[in-house]
Amino acid sequence: MPTPESVLLQSWQHNAQSWIEAVRSGALESRIKVTDQAILLAVLGRQPKRVLDLGCGEGWLLRALAERAIEAVGVDGDATLVDAARAAGSSQVHVANYEALAQAKVDIGRDYDLICANFALLHQDIIPLLAAMNALLAPGGALVIQTLHPWSVAAGNYQDGWREETFAGFQGQWQPMPWYFRTLSSWFNALEMAGFRLAGLQEPQHPQSPVPQSLLMVAEPRG
Ligand SMILES: C[S@@+](CC[C@H](N)C(=O)[O-])C[C@H]1O[C@@H](n2cnc3c(N)ncnc32)[C@H](O)[C@@H]1O
Repeated sequence: MPTPESVLLQSWQHNAQSWIEAVRSGALESRIKVTDQAILLAVLGRQPKRVLDLGCGEGWLLRALAERAIEAVGVDGDATLVDAARAAGSSQVHVANYEALAQAKVDIGRDYDLICANFALLHQDIIPLLAAMNALLAPGGALVIQTLHPWSVAAGNYQDGWREETFAGFQGQWQPMPWYFRTLSSWFNALEMAGFRLAGLQEPQHPQSPVPQSLLMVAEPRG
């Protein structure tokens, strides 16, 4: 019986090409209008020299950081997306799934000033992965997570649990993706249990939108 986690990663293998087209054509309006800028500013605000982009996808954030002379290393579980990131100019991109990263089975470097995850933490058991990322941070380093805002996507069911994204309204061929919904307090608890303390929280929102487009958290290792 496949686990939701394995179906999740398989969905990215199926959806990789459609995802690359969607991101690179600017088809995802909330990204263009709000969330790309939000994570970029949150990362740049920490003035990092060396950044790890966890679940980097096709690598748009790696390129945006490299353009600003920041050393940007990516890691993603899908080989097609990693190939696309490399082909677009990012030289340091690893293929590894989160399970292997949580168990430190893959060497993706260390001493990062900042580790970011942009809409990339979609599975249930994020605590071991976050704890492993904590160990890769340089002194004074931070974790920046941007994710779906739980209050915007709860759809009347504000409880942790698996949901399904069908990609209805997206152009192209998509396979449904299981993803794990977590409440605001669940995010907070996961960070705490992985050895972080929440240092900042933003709710990026377009002025013409009644709801925030994302939740953005900055976390620092507890001393
Ligand atoms: C919504 S995309 C976000 C990609 C990128 N961060 C961006 O902003 O465009 C989610 C990413 O998480 C990666 N991912 C999901 N589950 C994973 C896992 N178990 N191991 C490694 N990568 C995973 C997918 O391959 C995909 O690239």
